[in-house]
Amino acid sequence: MAIATTIPASTRVHKRVGALEPIAVTEISKDLRQLLADVFALYVKTKGAHWHISGGHFRDYHLLLDEQAEQIFAMTDEIAERTRKIGGTSLHSIAEIAQHKRLSDQTDSVTAQSLLWGLVIDNEQLLASLRNSHELCAQHNDVATTSLIEVWTDQTERRLWFLNATLEGDPTHRSTE
Ligand SMILES: [Fe+2]
Repeated sequence: MAIATTIPASTRVHKRVGALEPIAVTEISKDLRQLLADVFALYVKTKGAHWHISGGHFRDYHLLLDEQAEQIFAMTDEIAERTRKIGGTSLHSIAEIAQHKRLSDQTDSVTAQSLLWGLVIDNEQLLASLRNSHELCAQHNDVATTSLIEVWTDQTERRLWFLNATLEGDPTHRSTE
C-alpha cells in the first residue's frame, strides 16, 4: 500500500528540481543580453547593406543580404525566449540594445566591397562571442542553451562562407580594418 508523504513547509526547497543555479542564471542571462544586442545590431547593419548596396552584382548582393538578415532576425526571438526560460531578463528597448551591444556602429562604407567586408568583420566578432557563450553555458551545464548556440554558430559560419566567397579575389581585401 502506497504511503502518502507530506513535506513540511519549513523544509521545502524553492529551486525547481533540475533548474540552473542562481549564479548560472545571472551569468548566462547577462551573456545572452549582450548576444541579443549584438544580433539586433547585426540585423540592422545587414538590412542597411541590403538597402544601400549597389554595383554590377546588385541583385545577387541584395538577395543574399536579405536572406542573411532574415536568418539573423530569427535568432533574436530564440535568444530572448531562452533567457526567459531559464528565469532571466532580456532586453526591452532600443536604449538597452545600444547599452549592451559590442559590435561597432561604423556605417560609413560606400562601396559594395566595403559594405560586405564590414559584415565579414561583424559576423566574425559574433562568431567569437558565440564560442565564448558556449563555453560559459557548458561550464554551468546549460545543455539546451549550448545546443541553440551550436545552431547559431553554424548559421554564422555559413553567412561568413557566403560573404567571403562573394568577396574572393577582391583587391580591397579587408579595407575597412
Ligand atoms: Fe527588402
